[in-house]
Amino acid sequence: MGALSKNLFEKFTYSSSIVKGQRHALEPGFVPDRLPHREEEAEQLAEILSPSLKNFKPSNIIIFGKPGVGKTSVVKFVEAEISKAIQSRLDVKIKLIDVNCGIVDNPYGVLVAVGDGLLESWEEKLPFTGWPLDKLYSTVLDKIKSFGGIAIIILDEIDRLVKKNGDSVLYQLLRINEVTNEGRVCILGISNDLRFTEYLDPRVKSRLIEETMVFNPYNASQIYDILRDRSLYAGIADSIDESAMKTCAALAAQEHGDARRAIDMLRIAVELTEKSNELRILDDTIYEAKKKLERDVVVETVSTLPLHSKLLLFSISLIDEIKNGVSSTMGEFYDLYEKVAERMSIGSLTQRRVADIIGELTNLGLIDSKVQSFGRYGRTTTVSLNYDSSKIKDILLSDELLSQLKDVKPMQKSLPDS
Ligand SMILES: Nc1ncnc2c1ncn2[C@@H]1O[C@H](COP(=O)(O)OP(=O)(O)OP(=O)(O)O)[C@@H](O)[C@H]1O
Ligand SMILES: [Mg+2]
Repeated sequence: MGALSKNLFEKFTYSSSIVKGQRHALEPGFVPDRLPHREEEAEQLAEILSPSLKNFKPSNIIIFGKPGVGKTSVVKFVEAEISKAIQSRLDVKIKLIDVNCGIVDNPYGVLVAVGDGLLESWEEKLPFTGWPLDKLYSTVLDKIKSFGGIAIIILDEIDRLVKKNGDSVLYQLLRINEVTNEGRVCILGISNDLRFTEYLDPRVKSRLIEETMVFNPYNASQIYDILRDRSLYAGIADSIDESAMKTCAALAAQEHGDARRAIDMLRIAVELTEKSNELRILDDTIYEAKKKLERDVVVETVSTLPLHSKLLLFSISLIDEIKNGVSSTMGEFYDLYEKVAERMSIGSLTQRRVADIIGELTNLGLIDSKVQSFGRYGRTTTVSLNYDSSKIKDILLSDELLSQLKDVKPMQKSLPDS
């Protein structure tokens, strides 16, 4: 009875919170009103977009940069500044239309988002499905004309849209400026993949990329400043050791200067400190937070893979285990993958399709792969695992479907000496 008289949530309520300010300042969705070390980028973008304040169409622009280097934050900041600048100016007609192509990645969705962004408050929204694309396009065109100003369309993660559905919708949006003068369209694309422009038709490419900006990764001292600033918002500045803050910044700088990683690490360090009823964040807490973060990211990535990708990764992990980390060849892991698929009573994919999946697993950072040439004996793909094989296997085997593979062992003889 004694135990029951306690509230169920008691042990989750930390007695000593070290967060004296806004806890959500450490959460992913927080939008700070200062962006240390991105002042120049913000100013440069403002300059590029400034013709719109005189009712001229600004150049279309693409912003490139690795994940977590502040691209979305800077654009949102500049958008907010534009909105403030035009607040009481009736002579300026600008609409800022945000489309997150990580979520809306098809032409229909993009056109609806643009159309909806141009609506007056009393107008009805466009149907989110069902219209033929040409009807949708001409409706958007009409709306641009009746608006008569400059629509700045922000396509965040534009590379996803293009990779998934090609560039036809970009072509349509860009063409608006050629078929009417009554309203103008400016496209601002954001991408963390420099290569996505290779997928663009030359006609789209030359119109879309009138200006480019590249955001460089942050170095350790810049991340330090960002963390320090963020810890002021959260009110934890007094609870974190100077050297812990430096360690956190240095670790994030090593990984392509990603401010998101640094802030995530800091948030987890705060949680770990509170859970153990400690009062200070120390170096060790940061290392522990880093480990936890990695575990979480890998578990999430691996457990949400499609079935065949899981089977392939499972085969690669098994071989990695017996070869002690030495890379395996397509011949080796494809062989094993076929056997594993057979064991699951499902048909295996062709080598060609498997090569595509290897590319996807490589992009996710789970494996490294390269094509090796053996002179006149031809070429083969070799892969190596980027994480501990037993860890990857554990995650995979915890999947209900794959649990039947628990006792699968690769045949030593099928593997040549390495
Ligand atoms: N200069 C900065 N000052 C303060 N916080 C920053 C700064 N740069 C990035 N951040 C923070 O880091 C996180 C990631 O930033 P942001 O979302 O802008 O990155 P991104 O370049 O758009 O990344 P992705 O390519 O993954 O979309 C956000 O929480 C943001 O608030
Ligand atoms: Mg972003």
